[in-house]
Amino acid sequence: MNDRSELQIDLNILGENIKKLGVLAPINEVLFMVKADAYGHGMVPLVSYCLNFSKIREFGVATCFEARQLRSNLPLENFEIYVFSDLNLEKNRNFYKEFNIIPVIYSLADLNFFLFDSSYKNVPLCLKFNTGMNRLGFEEDDVEEVVSMMKTRGRSSVYHLMTHLSSASLLGTNKRNTEQKNRFKNIKDKFEAFNINLERTSISNSGAIEQGLGLEETHIRPGLMLYGPTNLIKKYRTKSNWKGETISSLQTYIIKTSLIKKGTPIGYGASPCPDDGLLAILALGYGDGFSTNFEGAHIFHKGHKGKIVGRVNMDMTHVLFSKESAAEIKTGDKVKIWGHEQSELQRFLDETGSIPYEIFCQLTGRVPRNYNLKELMVFKEEDHGKKLAY
Ligand SMILES: Cc1ncc(COP(=O)(O)O)c(C=O)c1O
Repeated sequence: MNDRSELQIDLNILGENIKKLGVLAPINEVLFMVKADAYGHGMVPLVSYCLNFSKIREFGVATCFEARQLRSNLPLENFEIYVFSDLNLEKNRNFYKEFNIIPVIYSLADLNFFLFDSSYKNVPLCLKFNTGMNRLGFEEDDVEEVVSMMKTRGRSSVYHLMTHLSSASLLGTNKRNTEQKNRFKNIKDKFEAFNINLERTSISNSGAIEQGLGLEETHIRPGLMLYGPTNLIKKYRTKSNWKGETISSLQTYIIKTSLIKKGTPIGYGASPCPDDGLLAILALGYGDGFSTNFEGAHIFHKGHKGKIVGRVNMDMTHVLFSKESAAEIKTGDKVKIWGHEQSELQRFLDETGSIPYEIFCQLTGRVPRNYNLKELMVFKEEDHGKKLAY
């Protein structure tokens, strides 16, 4: 281990999760969501793994900056990138064109620019409709205008038509999910009635896929589940068919241990220690993305149950174990915050009231991401010098 904390990422587990996804959704193509640095796990190594060891060739990011990172680090690979939110079609027109990046178009203004700017002549047309998320997307009533704009420019085919569910973490039979699915069907029917060919369609993110919702579309768009966790809220977890494992394990070490008496002030704010015990100082703080909200959560080490006490600070977290643990818990010990077993992360999430998306994404650059497949270190010699000039 490095001298502080680390996020160990087991790419073999990612491979297993991809296989398990293939069992749940055997006929669907996968557009893997790798935005926000693959939910904090490292976008380039994960995409590189998929290209080398799986059939996934389509990836979703939020911004052109993320798309550039992928193209510049993997210049020799053949794969598709969709940009989902910050399109900047005017500023980035040459980038989309030269590097064949697909903008997910969600407004009439952007569609107009896309269709009339010659840079986009050969860029696939991908449209996102709002069916109830009320964030980004064309409205159902826009179909006629969209089709008319397309026809003016001689386009008779949509490369990918998609929508996004607002409530996939609830039951698939939930009213909102049903309504969104029905609206998407109406939208597809309208396009087809105008003789527009829909090459690809997708609706499902993790929670939906886990429940078998939206698998009649050509594509699925999983993010979270491939990193391990279920997307379903606690109440409905038993309804999930997902048996993935967490690809990451967050590990740290004990900087110092000392016996402490109940009432002794600890750290910033001088919180009184709730009991006599052994105080272990972990090398994780909010400078690493370990939140002050984690106070009160439990950490298990060598079979002993400790509790986060006092305020988490920038570089350290205090954990109180029983006095009896002093014989076994020592300075320098490596401590696991969560491991690959799903239940470990789930327990920590439930205790801290966090969502897995946030807990992964908030880990800062100070926590090194270490991968188990050394041969995959993507910055291959031959790629040097071929990086894009962006
Ligand atoms: C449009 C879209 N599709 C799919 C996903 C993947 O969602 P999840 O990580 O819940 O699978 C996201 C994630 O934010 C998204 O924005």
